[in-house]
Amino acid sequence: MLIKTGRDGFHHPNSSEITPEAMYRQRREMLKLMATGAAGAALASWAGREALAQVQRPGKLAALQATRSQVPGAVTMEKVTEYKDATTYNNFYEFGTDKADPAKNAGTLKTSPWTVEVDGMVKKPGKFALEDLLKLSPQEERIYRLRCVEGWSMVVPWVGYPLSKLVERVEPLGGAKFVEFHTQADRATMPGLRSGVLDWPYVEGLRMDEAMHPLTLLSFGMYGEVLPNQNGAPVRLVVPWKYGFKSAKSLVRIRFSDKEPKTAWNKAAANEYGFYSNVNPEVDHPRWSQATERRIGEDGLFTKKRKTLMFNGYEPQVGQLYAGMDLKKNY
Ligand code: MTE
Repeated sequence: MLIKTGRDGFHHPNSSEITPEAMYRQRREMLKLMATGAAGAALASWAGREALAQVQRPGKLAALQATRSQVPGAVTMEKVTEYKDATTYNNFYEFGTDKADPAKNAGTLKTSPWTVEVDGMVKKPGKFALEDLLKLSPQEERIYRLRCVEGWSMVVPWVGYPLSKLVERVEPLGGAKFVEFHTQADRATMPGLRSGVLDWPYVEGLRMDEAMHPLTLLSFGMYGEVLPNQNGAPVRLVVPWKYGFKSAKSLVRIRFSDKEPKTAWNKAAANEYGFYSNVNPEVDHPRWSQATERRIGEDGLFTKKRKTLMFNGYEPQVGQLYAGMDLKKNY
């Protein structure tokens, strides 16, 4: 089924304003095919560009094309984590708390039709159908490390575009200092919601300058393909210099505010999970060190752990956002 286009009271870009007409038509064609699940056969002809992924994955995934990002720091040369590792070892508590649960249970997530509501302190609030979001800006592939607070990390080729493109479109008011991200909370399709482990919906937040930083990605895919459900389909956040939990999955609402958002993990355990949650080897989690990490799929239990880098290695790009701040206090 094709996703409906929501046009609630604000100007959506005419796609020809963003991409050349021919490319736009091809993208529309692709969206239609994705919606009908018939994408596999048509991939070769779509866009006439080199496909990032040649293999059709199990679980009705279809390739999503993108160009390699030119943003400094957006592509790491590190070995990319195996697809099977990045898609079977997940945190997505809406589908269970075990790392294997999301891959097993997230098949029930209904990703179409999908709408993201943008509200709060913005000039142009409204609802974006996924289709509108996908065509808001050309997609890029960005190979980022994702470091979990639990001490593991992975290197993933994410597909998406900077969140700033969406923020600019909705025109935040001068007083808006923070952005809140609310994710899907549907009891009918998400068995984990029966547990009180978190106060649902899962909410995350960023300061406005963090949200506008070019490394902050609104992501629709990984490994050149549409996001698998367990990794946050159909649209998620990727904030590579913060612990993984800041990268909220299956976004349904983005709200602008003048107050620091109350985030799900902060509400669950304020002494363990602060608002900033920057990857910082010098500030330990109260129950374990954050100085080292294990790369998923590569480092075994007996391998020497890797040193964790400040801001997950993105210090040259983001360090200045926190100049003068006490990062022990603002953990
Ligand atoms: N988003 C939602 N909605 N629910 C969650 O439980 N877990 C977070 C984050 N986003 C989570 C979420 C945590 S703890 C991590 S480490 C990352 O997703 C993991 O993303 P990945 O499974 O793609 O590696």
